[in-house]
Amino acid sequence: MKILVTGGAGFIGSAVVRLAISRGQEVVNLDALTYAACLDNVASVADAPGYAFEQVDIRDRPALDRVLSDHRPDAIMHLAAESHVDRSIDGPATFIETNVMGTFNLLEAARSYWDGQGRDPAFRFHHISTDEVFGSLGPEGQFTEESPYDPRSPYSASKASSDHLVRAWHETYGLPVVLTNCSNNYGPYHFPEKLIPIVILKALAGEPIPIYGDGSNVRDWLYVEDHADALLLVLEEGAIGRSYNIGGENERSNLDLVRTLCTILDRMAPKEGSYGDQITFVADRPGHDARYAIDPTRIRDELGWRPSVTVEEGLEKTVRWYLDNRDWWQALLDRDGVGRRLGRAS
Ligand SMILES: NC(=O)c1ccc[n+]([C@@H]2O[C@H](COP(=O)([O-])OP(=O)(O)OC[C@H]3O[C@@H](n4cnc5c(N)ncnc54)[C@H](O)[C@@H]3O)[C@@H](O)[C@H]2O)c1
Repeated sequence: MKILVTGGAGFIGSAVVRLAISRGQEVVNLDALTYAACLDNVASVADAPGYAFEQVDIRDRPALDRVLSDHRPDAIMHLAAESHVDRSIDGPATFIETNVMGTFNLLEAARSYWDGQGRDPAFRFHHISTDEVFGSLGPEGQFTEESPYDPRSPYSASKASSDHLVRAWHETYGLPVVLTNCSNNYGPYHFPEKLIPIVILKALAGEPIPIYGDGSNVRDWLYVEDHADALLLVLEEGAIGRSYNIGGENERSNLDLVRTLCTILDRMAPKEGSYGDQITFVADRPGHDARYAIDPTRIRDELGWRPSVTVEEGLEKTVRWYLDNRDWWQALLDRDGVGRRLGRAS
C-alpha cells in the first residue's frame, strides 16, 4: 500500500512514517516544515526505496492536487496540524487556517482524486484527531466514541471542526473515511514545548520544572509507537465511516507524572539531591481541562488492539532516549517560543 502521510515530519506523523516503512509500506511524507517539524525524525528512513518527501502546505490546494496526481496513493493519513494548546491561546488564527481550512482543502483534493480514480472503495482517508474534542471530565467516567463534542480551547475547537468536516465528506460525498481520537502521546522525538520533554530538559538543565496550577489535571498517556501501531491497524481494518478512541490505559495526574519522571532521572542521570526538588508550581493555563480519559472498548473488542507498554515502561524508554539523543533536542532549543511560557492569555 502507498500511504500519503501529512505532518510526517512532526512527532506522531514521523512515528507513523518510520513504522509504515519498517513494515514494507510505501510512504509519501507531506509536510510544510513549520516550527514543529524536524526532518531528523525521519532520517532513519529517508533513503528507503519506498519513501518520498514533499514540502507542501495543506492550505495550498493546487500543490495537494499535484502531489496526489504524481504519487497516486492508496490512502491518506492526515496528521498535519497546529498541535500546541498554549500556542492556540496566543495565536488562534493559524489553528483555524491549518486545522480547519487545511483539512477542508485536503478533503476536497482527496475527493477529486478519488472521483478521478473511479471511487475505489478500497481508498481510505484517515483523520487523526484528539480526545480534547470531548471537553473535560470530572473525577469519574471516560470518553467513548458517542461522547458529545465540547471543545474548550482554540486548538480543540479547530480539531472538532475538522472531525465534523471529515464525517460530512463521508455522509455527503461517500468519501471512505476512518477517524481516530487519541489521548496525550509521549515518547522519542517529542518537540521540546510539550510537558514531558520540558520536564526532562529543565531537570537536566538544573532549572525550575514548571507545573501548571496544582498539578491535579489528569491525562491518559499513550506511548507514541503504540499509537502509530493503532493508527496503521485502524487504516487497514477500521470500518468505513467509524471512529475509534485510542488510549494508553494509563491515567496519571500531571504531578504524579512529573514525580515519576524525576525518580527515573534520579536513577539514570544521578546528581546531588533529587530532580524532584526542582518542581515549581506556576500560574495555570486558562481553561485548563481537568481530566481526560479514554474508554478503549471499541478498538480493543473490534480490532483487538491494546497498548504494549505501561506508562512506567514508556517513560523509562523516553528518558533514556532524551539522554542518548542530546544533539536532536539541543538543535531545537533556538526555535521560536521554545523554553518560553506561552498561553497565559492575560
Ligand atoms: N501530540 C499529542 O499528544 C496528540 C494527541 C492527540 C491527537 N494529536 C493529533 O495528532 C496529529 C499530530 O500531532 P503531533 O503531536 O505529531 O504534532 P506536531 O506539532 O509534532 O507535528 C505537526 C506536523 O504538521 C506539520 N504542519 C503543520 N501545519 C501544516 C500545514 N499547514 N501544512 C502541512 N504541514 C503542516 C508540521 O510541520 C509538523 O511536522 C495532530 O493532528 C494532532 O492534533 C496529537
